[in-house]
Amino acid sequence: MGSVRPIDPAVVRDLADVVGPRQVVTDPALVAGYTTDWTGRFAGRSPAVVRPARTEEVAAVLAVCNRRGVRVVPQGGNTGLVGGGVPLEGEIVLSLRRLSEIGEVDHAAAQLIAGAGVPIAAVQAAAVRGGLAYPVDLAARDSATVGGSVATNAGGLHFLRYGGTRERLVGIEAVTADGRVLRHLGGLLKDNTGYDLARLFCGSEGTLGVVTEAALALSPRFDHRVTALLAFGSVSGATEAAAALKRTVDSLEALEVFFDDGLRLVCEAFALRPPFDEEFSGYLLVEAADRADPSDTLSEAIDSLEGVMAVAVASAASRRRELWRYREDHTAAINGVGVPHKLDVTVPLGRLSAFLDEVRVRVHATAPEAQTWLFGHAGDGNVHVNVTGVAPDDDAVDDAVLELVAHHGGSISAEHGIGSAKKRWLHLSRSPEEIAVMRAIKDALDPNGILNPNAVLP
Ligand code: MLT
Ligand code: ZN
Repeated sequence: MGSVRPIDPAVVRDLADVVGPRQVVTDPALVAGYTTDWTGRFAGRSPAVVRPARTEEVAAVLAVCNRRGVRVVPQGGNTGLVGGGVPLEGEIVLSLRRLSEIGEVDHAAAQLIAGAGVPIAAVQAAAVRGGLAYPVDLAARDSATVGGSVATNAGGLHFLRYGGTRERLVGIEAVTADGRVLRHLGGLLKDNTGYDLARLFCGSEGTLGVVTEAALALSPRFDHRVTALLAFGSVSGATEAAAALKRTVDSLEALEVFFDDGLRLVCEAFALRPPFDEEFSGYLLVEAADRADPSDTLSEAIDSLEGVMAVAVASAASRRRELWRYREDHTAAINGVGVPHKLDVTVPLGRLSAFLDEVRVRVHATAPEAQTWLFGHAGDGNVHVNVTGVAPDDDAVDDAVLELVAHHGGSISAEHGIGSAKKRWLHLSRSPEEIAVMRAIKDALDPNGILNPNAVLP
């Protein structure tokens, strides 16, 4: 981390004219809260954080930055895991957290409009108050924001049933690099009027524009929910059971996988009692939700599975939460071991078992001192390969894992995005022609290259 290049006082003045002097933060002690990612792997530097509260302010801030050639990293809850929200090269941080307005649920459309700074948990709560649900769910729900989740096309725990953020997005308001406001929030389901800008901006990681509001499609609220933790003697036992459950249980809402070492770590880190008296190789956390109690359907499906060594089932919210902790607390427990390399990948479902076996071998061969932690969304073929015991800037393990993913026909990023962490390997998932078109879009929308310059494109 080099020293911070001072910001031109004229820029600070211009920005302060837009948002007020108190919302242009230059005190290094306060700025520091915005320059490192949650894992501690990506530590940047910035001369200033700008905190607009309204779309017009975002537009005016970007107009100033574009005119003066000041580079900007947009940031929501700073829960990203690929260094996409960190000012690595001394950019200013554009914090969207103050865009925190949330609209009423539109019952006729089953939609809701929320500002970029609204936490996902607040969207979920508003949907529930309106008798519906917002089905995109992730462990970082209390901090992750609407803007960040749209910018990164966040996936999460319910992807197998509802898709990710892009599938829920029915409209967007965003600001271009030169300060133009694109507002298309009508939420029409059939709207075949040219390029779908909302979905283009979704997953663009702040490189094409800054998301200021989003119209989100809600889903039915299911009051009956059952969670089961299943134990298996082998990795393939768990993956085959996952595929079978996906085929047979219509109300399946989550299908998560983790392994003995990760479970042991979580239990040690948080002093949790293990779920079973014995240890097993692999575990599936399964959740079903429906208008009527799905317990019997799920039990029948579990009974017909092969290789299940132990089962714990819960319907009560408190016990369900306990079961979920074995899975959700992986992220924090691994961070407690050391700064992880987080490799969020997808492989075709038919290759999942082979990949899970091979990736451990591959990491060990590359960095024998490293530890590999595997968990993820089994129903989506999405594995979170976390590796500790490797220096933050040592890319050898990333290289080995992502090459293996490509070899299996997978994607180098399932749901976390490319950020700065993975842009070196974008060619493993995207062709030169695709990358050239992405570059052309970027250049057309942000000719001065001020928007999140370290993310996505090599
Ligand atoms: C998760 O599934 O828990 C999240 O993607 C976070 C992580 O990968 O650590
Ligand atoms: Zn995940």
